Amino acid sequence: MNISIIGTGHVGLVTGACFAEVGNQVICVDNDEKKIATLKKGKMPIYEPHLEELVKKNVDEERLFFSTLIEEGVSKSSVIFIAVGTPPKENGEADLSSVEKVCSQIARNMKNYKLVVEKSTVPVQTGQWIKRLFNLHDSHRDFDIASNPEFLREGSAIHDFLNPDRIVIGVENEKAANILKELYSPIIKRSFDSSLKSSLVNHIPLLITDLQSAELIKHASNSFLAAKISFINAVADICERVGADVEKVAQGMGYDPRIGPAFLKAGVGFGGFCFPKDLQAFIQIAGKFNYDFCLLKEVEKINKDRPRRLVEKIKEALWVLKDKTIGILGLAFKPDTDDMRFAPSIEVINLLQKEKAKLKVYDPVAMDKAKMILEDVEYGKDPYQVADASNALVIVTEWNEFRDLDLAKIKGLLANPIIVDGRNIFDPVKMKKLGFIYKAMGR
Ligand code: UDX
Repeated sequence: MNISIIGTGHVGLVTGACFAEVGNQVICVDNDEKKIATLKKGKMPIYEPHLEELVKKNVDEERLFFSTLIEEGVSKSSVIFIAVGTPPKENGEADLSSVEKVCSQIARNMKNYKLVVEKSTVPVQTGQWIKRLFNLHDSHRDFDIASNPEFLREGSAIHDFLNPDRIVIGVENEKAANILKELYSPIIKRSFDSSLKSSLVNHIPLLITDLQSAELIKHASNSFLAAKISFINAVADICERVGADVEKVAQGMGYDPRIGPAFLKAGVGFGGFCFPKDLQAFIQIAGKFNYDFCLLKEVEKINKDRPRRLVEKIKEALWVLKDKTIGILGLAFKPDTDDMRFAPSIEVINLLQKEKAKLKVYDPVAMDKAKMILEDVEYGKDPYQVADASNALVIVTEWNEFRDLDLAKIKGLLANPIIVDGRNIFDPVKMKKLGFIYKAMGR
């Protein structure tokens, strides 16, 4: 099928490359000339495992193209995915100006039937607004609107796209449903040849529902996952007060298949461009429809307090932070990504700088992005340089590289044998044996 993806960010680029991988002709459009020029040179504007080779393969096999012209995307495609950013406004509401702008451009350029698909995370009822906008342009327009939310995790986005645990399609008629069913059939039937295919399941659940329900599924799913994380972080605080180990509590809870072990990791909280944004958006959406989502407000409040809890532990170990040197390991909001958006490390560093501490930081891939955000920090070339002569070492992102550190060497380099573990990656018994003052979250 001929499709175009408007917006080549994390979601759009992965969606375009994967749809090309399963055999479609895909044009990825973005109004950012620099980004398109980078992509045309075979360079990736984002760090995502396997993305570079997947893009290169599909560009070489002439299924994947890049353009800055929406009209090119619209004229050559029958299905148009909207994958532009929907960032939070000051009040937390999703900013839909890019969605509206792109839809106006599509409406102005379409000469025949088009299926316009919401791929970006949008507030419920956005589909109705898009319909109104298209009809405003020309009431006898031949088009349909669909919602096809993505459930991609950064760091495993391509795997998640090609091996989804469900495909959700929100439509208003059979025609739109059939087009998307056909488009996804290679993925549902796993009938595509890609090294990224896992044969865990041979049939992917496909949920076909109305527009509003499909739009709500994304916000409700992400908010529920965020609630799970804040719940275990609240339990972590109780564990500290009663002398329990939240890792064991979470393990015990996770054996219940109704709870499951995933997203029960206590730590310095969730970041990224999805959970914080979707949580706020859902609270705003509910408010717009006169529902006060106080449960989610509490989820947000617990999460916002995690960086302060971590800094409190550093103070417990070091007392005065002024003029002390603190080593920070991990800046990205989670491992396997360079994304710093809403990363807990930013608030942790901000709080430490307020205490006039000196900071040495290291992250395996996120330091380039960090340099555009952080100020007055020294960047180390590796964890050992960050530990050298520091008064404490703080784990903020659980990169595997940090799990394998030579802890005896780290101890020898530190001015004080203090490790504050914001992601509970080390074993408290082992750390005590090694002579560290070891503090963790909920242990
Ligand atoms: C999330 C959703 O998982 C995905 O389905 C959606 O499409 C986009 O948002 P992502 O934000 O990329 O994906 O990362 P994810 O792996 O979900 O982690 C989000 C944050 O939660 C990270 O900061 C992570 O450190 C934190 N987290 C995750 C915890 O603190 N504890 C956990 O147990 C799991």
